[in-house]
Amino acid sequence: MLILGIETSCDETAAAVVADGTRVLSNVIATQHNLHELYAGVVPEIASRAHIERITPVIREALNHAGLNYSDLDAIAVGHRPGLIGSLLVGVSAAKALAWSLEKPIIGVDHVLAHLHAGLLDSPPVEYPALGLVVSGGHTSLFLVRAPLDVQLLGKTIDDAVGEAYDKAATILQLGYPGGPLLDALAQTGNDRAHDFPVTLLSPESLDFSFSGLKTALLYAVCGQPVGRGMEARLQRDASHLSQQEKADFAASFQRAAVSALIQKLTRALKKVPGIFSGSAVRSLLVGGGVSANSLLRTQLKVFTQKHHLELRLPQMQYCLDNAAMIAGAAAARFRANQFDTLTLSASPQTALT
Ligand code: KG4
Ligand code: ZN
Repeated sequence: MLILGIETSCDETAAAVVADGTRVLSNVIATQHNLHELYAGVVPEIASRAHIERITPVIREALNHAGLNYSDLDAIAVGHRPGLIGSLLVGVSAAKALAWSLEKPIIGVDHVLAHLHAGLLDSPPVEYPALGLVVSGGHTSLFLVRAPLDVQLLGKTIDDAVGEAYDKAATILQLGYPGGPLLDALAQTGNDRAHDFPVTLLSPESLDFSFSGLKTALLYAVCGQPVGRGMEARLQRDASHLSQQEKADFAASFQRAAVSALIQKLTRALKKVPGIFSGSAVRSLLVGGGVSANSLLRTQLKVFTQKHHLELRLPQMQYCLDNAAMIAGAAAARFRANQFDTLTLSASPQTALT
């Protein structure tokens, strides 16, 4: 089963060919970071124009790397939700054009759920039921995965996604763009006990996340409380007064609080799942999304899963960030179940499970 995956939900134009849902034959990613750096964030119009310029060469390269022709493919899969609508439309239009002209089936894939598949690529099958954690720039969500096509949302962020909080924290500390990996690297040389930032857990039973309080705590610690009221309010200073060591201490303390919130919610979910799900106990933990590349989170997830005797499926680094291999891989279960879409498939800014 050879599936071509296409991914254009945000600022990566990506195409990949995956065999039998797990064997990655090619994984091509054209990143747009240099185009958005000046604005310290993704500019939707710039992103969609860049996707249009790149999508055809990226798809051709994915086929070339795999050593295949269009006629060898069994289906075309595309990430069609959630994301920037103008960006998604480029991938969806390309996928429809290919499916129509080649007379191949088309499969629309939810990008957030596809992140859960990233740890299954180039790996043996996993045991279900599993807990799923997606930690990205747009989402922070916990899932119960009973089977590949049977996924239940347990909790999600009520404000910022964890990756978004990392990016904003990096902006506060004047580290550059994209901020998550830069903050992670700087935190390695910092004292994570230098500042006691809040670990927001919400109500005792909640499986939702919140990261905006942590971000604001860092902002005020670095820049001081705002002076003045309403439109006149101004911060007292910026991060330029900090030494490199002071910045590293802030980064490490922020990271300790952010990762602690994620691990504590996983612990809660593990306790609550038997009540939600009257099946056998959770066997595995699937993790995906850009923040799954984070060094502290990766270490702590290993400790967490060893303690609770779970099999951990952390994606390889090249599958943590947005990519099309996870889209093609996630589509395999739908292919096997004969669940195809039609050429009326549309893009949507919302995820399927909200
Ligand atoms: O999954 P992804 O590529 O895009 C979305 O679907 O959002 O995730 C991108 C996010 C960004 O917020 C980026 O700063 C964050 O992942 N990220 C990291 C690290 N690498 C990427 N955050 C913390 N530590 C990292 N090492
Ligand atoms: Zn993503």
